Amino acid sequence: MKLLVIGGGGREHALAWKLSLSPRVHKVFVAPGNAGTALEPGLENIPITAIPELIEFAKRESVAITVVGPEIPLAAGIVDAFQAAGLKIFGPTRQAAQLETSKIFAKEFMQRHHIPTAAYARFTDPGLAHAYIEQHPAPLVIKADGLAAGKGVIVAQSHEEAHSAVNAIMIEKNLGNAGNEIIIEEFLQGIEASFIVMTDGNHILPLATSQDHKRLCDDDQGPNTGGMGAYSPVPFVSPTLHAQIMRSIIDPVISGLKQDGIRYTGFLYAGLMITAQDQAKVLEFNCRLGDPETQPIMLRLKSDLLPLIEHAVNGTLNEMNIEWDRRTALGVVMAAKGYPENPRKNDAIYGLQDLAAEQENTDNFHIFHAGTSMGGENGNEIVTAGGRVLCVAALGDSVKIAQQTAYKLVERIRFDGSQIRHDIGHQGMNYQRGNSEKRD
Ligand code: AMP
Ligand code: GLY
Repeated sequence: MKLLVIGGGGREHALAWKLSLSPRVHKVFVAPGNAGTALEPGLENIPITAIPELIEFAKRESVAITVVGPEIPLAAGIVDAFQAAGLKIFGPTRQAAQLETSKIFAKEFMQRHHIPTAAYARFTDPGLAHAYIEQHPAPLVIKADGLAAGKGVIVAQSHEEAHSAVNAIMIEKNLGNAGNEIIIEEFLQGIEASFIVMTDGNHILPLATSQDHKRLCDDDQGPNTGGMGAYSPVPFVSPTLHAQIMRSIIDPVISGLKQDGIRYTGFLYAGLMITAQDQAKVLEFNCRLGDPETQPIMLRLKSDLLPLIEHAVNGTLNEMNIEWDRRTALGVVMAAKGYPENPRKNDAIYGLQDLAAEQENTDNFHIFHAGTSMGGENGNEIVTAGGRVLCVAALGDSVKIAQQTAYKLVERIRFDGSQIRHDIGHQGMNYQRGNSEKRD
């Protein structure tokens, strides 16, 4: 059987790699893919991004199922278009994707269905937003309503920062129409966790828990990024907390969508803040898998991914179970010089060939590519082509062991100006030091 994965980042490399290991899969096309998916056995890149051309391709190649990685094609209605053409595709429709594409939609939805989240107010008028700021203590969180490629959230530590965020988004329009409306949100304190599930609209299968590291520098300092590393599972999501998250957040989201007449099929990502009282509140929804969370999650997934997706597309996800490697998987992102503001391209990457040969014979690690392409003088060198370049993911019996293994692999890869964090997994490690409780 042939499959198609839409996207070209580390998440899509991990998804396509995992799907290619299914005994029934003959080939996984990746559109447009990267150098990692170009070189991975069983995968083939296709240089197409326009939806009508993707539909034509899927028909011509008799693609059995298409899986969508990023939010942009989902927001553009790729699922609606494939379904209208009679093609099977896994992901939410444009309407259902509003949980990610409009923060106001998501907030109103949560309010309507009593899903715990930060208190907020919405504004189209910058004057009223400024007045609201004056009446509320800092820190405050300012969020543009629309998709803003990770730049739409400002955690303002002072009133001054909050006022300038409002001006930048609403008056200077630095995020374009995504900032026509904003929300101002209560600041939540705690530990963040990513809680991702698969759903067919009626049944829910939670994936393993994970945690991202959004800031560029060690100790969670520096600018926000797409994510500098992730690990799975997160030891501080205890069985009790897991049950609470399912009961108070995930179940009400899926039943709330149904009540609202929206059928949601796909991966659903709840970004959570776990407060000191061990209460989970929703920071955001994403209508897709996380990047880089997917890379360690796929490394831990023991079940065949294909039947899980088939059952989800067919509405029978309740018939499926999911099995995880007991170990922790930890992924370290290697980013390009200049990331996140202005990542440099075309730096040659060294050390990947030996690792690619080694990873064929072990299930202990995998190097997932993101911003890479084939370049150099003869077009056969792997070069940087984006902000986040690689995610080096490894398994270990504890967060610490997985971390040590991942960083040893990172040392074997070189490119000019590469940036990494040195403390991926620090919260999980600190927790494990004082407590041996662990959960999938
Ligand atoms: P989002 O894109 O909504 O996930 O926000 C990006 C990051 O901003 C999150 O990962 C959090 O670190 C932070 N953040 C968002 N909302 C809040 C909040 N209400 N309180 C504290 N931090 C927040
Ligand atoms: N890692 C955060 C995200 O995928 O949105």
